[in-house]
Amino acid sequence: MEPQRTKIKELLKSDSFGSKVTVKGWVRTHRGSKQVHFIAVNDGSIIHNVQVVADSDLFDEETLQHITTGSSIRVTGTLVESMGKGQRMEIQAQEIELYGTADTETYPLQKKGHSLEFLREIAHLRPRTNTFGAILRLRHAMAYAMHTFFNEKGFYYLHTPIITGSDCEGAGQMFRVTTLDLNNLPRKDNGAIDYTEDFFGTETNLTVSGQLEGELGALALSEIYTFGPTFRAENSNTPRHLAEFWMVEPEMAFYDLSDTMNLAEEFIKFLITYALEHCRDELEFLNKMYDKELIVRLQSVIAADFERLSYTQAIDILKESGRAFEFPVGWGHDLQAEHERFLVEEHFKRPVILIDYPQEIKPFYMKRNDDGKTVRAMDVLFPKIGEIIGGSQREESYEKLTDRIAAMEIPAKDIWWYLETRKFGTVPHSGFGLGFERLMVFVSGMSNIRDVIPFPRTPGNASF
Ligand code: 4AD
Ligand code: MG
Repeated sequence: MEPQRTKIKELLKSDSFGSKVTVKGWVRTHRGSKQVHFIAVNDGSIIHNVQVVADSDLFDEETLQHITTGSSIRVTGTLVESMGKGQRMEIQAQEIELYGTADTETYPLQKKGHSLEFLREIAHLRPRTNTFGAILRLRHAMAYAMHTFFNEKGFYYLHTPIITGSDCEGAGQMFRVTTLDLNNLPRKDNGAIDYTEDFFGTETNLTVSGQLEGELGALALSEIYTFGPTFRAENSNTPRHLAEFWMVEPEMAFYDLSDTMNLAEEFIKFLITYALEHCRDELEFLNKMYDKELIVRLQSVIAADFERLSYTQAIDILKESGRAFEFPVGWGHDLQAEHERFLVEEHFKRPVILIDYPQEIKPFYMKRNDDGKTVRAMDVLFPKIGEIIGGSQREESYEKLTDRIAAMEIPAKDIWWYLETRKFGTVPHSGFGLGFERLMVFVSGMSNIRDVIPFPRTPGNASF
């Protein structure tokens, strides 16, 4: 029988020196002399390797030669205190089993210090680097912390559909889902494509947001959240945009906008605190390698009260700044990342929550303010990122909502079910969406969103 494997994360905590242990993993480095070989093994459970010491007398030349960077092995041996510098323990190998070799000439992760751009081209192997191991463990921790936060508050996790017949954000940035033969499309008499022949009998797309269905859940279970992939066919080749990204969307009955701002601030601080408490190795590595201010920045964000002000006040500040922005500043224009970052990084020097945006630049579902011009929108703006959260109080009045969708020429027939919730037991409610990868960019200190998701989808790129 094969000996029980210990993951390196557990092993490194142990002090049962003298006992027999088995580790399995991938070889990071192998250096040897005539008498003795040193093999650093990593199994991805933790950033650190374990050092294996193999006596040349015990192992045949052939086996040792195949233990190269990238190969995979099982090692069984005795855990001993290490005499060498840099590690507390090592394994004195008694058996080494080679699972798979990795050719020295062609294995791409031979030397250290590859560029992030190069690693994107080998996204199938980059999880084996220290950088992506750290990011993927951090990503897991953030997802776990997110579920913990909501579970402890009594929110229920609602699974919303990926394929939809409606456009939540109304920005027309959807990916079509169809089984129609694109070379032979069924046509109606007037020449239009006949979607009644399509799989679902209607036009369908990948969702841009789980919010509309999330609202249905909140209007029954009180407080829910969704967490899933969302898709946007916006042709933005920026370090902050993905075509496929994950969004966390809480939706709360009986919350007004200020309750929602409080929740958003508490939520983000909880996640960052969790990272600082549980992902120390990862953050220290990323701080050292990529962003010397990372940990200090994370600490400063949890210590700060987020600044709260209206869109209109923000426009005044931007105008008075005397800055030459690339995009024009003016009431009614949407804010660009440069404006958001000016407010956060230079003016207030802390995260900012902007509310009450002009209704023209926001989606149909936001609650109208009495001024007739603005809506109860809320964007949370972060250093390095700009917008990290977008949300709002929702329009709960059937009349106001139907007026708005008529004015925006949104087909009511696609969202009749959404409108019915305003007819039957409507209540004030609110919610927001946190871009999970934007959060990851902030927490990891990476500067490109392509480097915080295992397999990024961006314009022109769907490999892996
Ligand atoms: O502001 P957005 O478009 O809001 C919504 O979708 C609402 N339905 C959310 C809600 O109220 N339930 O998107 C929410 C967040 C943004 O603040 C941003 O963090 C992220 O999603 N996001 C993106 N992240 C990566 N790539 C993209 N292309 C993104 N677009 C939005
Ligand atoms: Mg937004």
